[in-house]
Amino acid sequence: MIGRLNHVAIAVPDLEKATAMYRDTLGAKVSDPIDEPDHGVTVVFVELPNTKVELLHPLGDKSPIQGYLDKNPGGGMHHVCYEVDDIMMARDRMKAEGARVLGDGEPKIGAHGKPVLFLHPKDFCGTLVELEQA
Ligand code: CO
Repeated sequence: MIGRLNHVAIAVPDLEKATAMYRDTLGAKVSDPIDEPDHGVTVVFVELPNTKVELLHPLGDKSPIQGYLDKNPGGGMHHVCYEVDDIMMARDRMKAEGARVLGDGEPKIGAHGKPVLFLHPKDFCGTLVELEQA
């Protein structure tokens, strides 16, 4: 069911430092920081030939990644995002398989303006999984 890896999201305590590391040390193409107040994050996109890495930094006082950074002060991998053709079909399949869909179970409009769902990390090898309708 899942298709392409859309992105890997990494929570970072210092966005400038993380951006410089990807740009200068790893030699990747990076975007300018983009504030996404609706999602409580500032994002830098790292463009790779086959996918993206998103560097996430908290924005505002109700950021969904603040708790993660509290537990992992040096930062770390926050989630992986896989593309699906049909988010409702994916949601129903996850429920039928006994996987927990976070929140109220309804798709939300994600950071790229497309419908997304998040799946409980305990059901997926300790990794928070985002499904995005491509
Ligand atoms: Co994401």
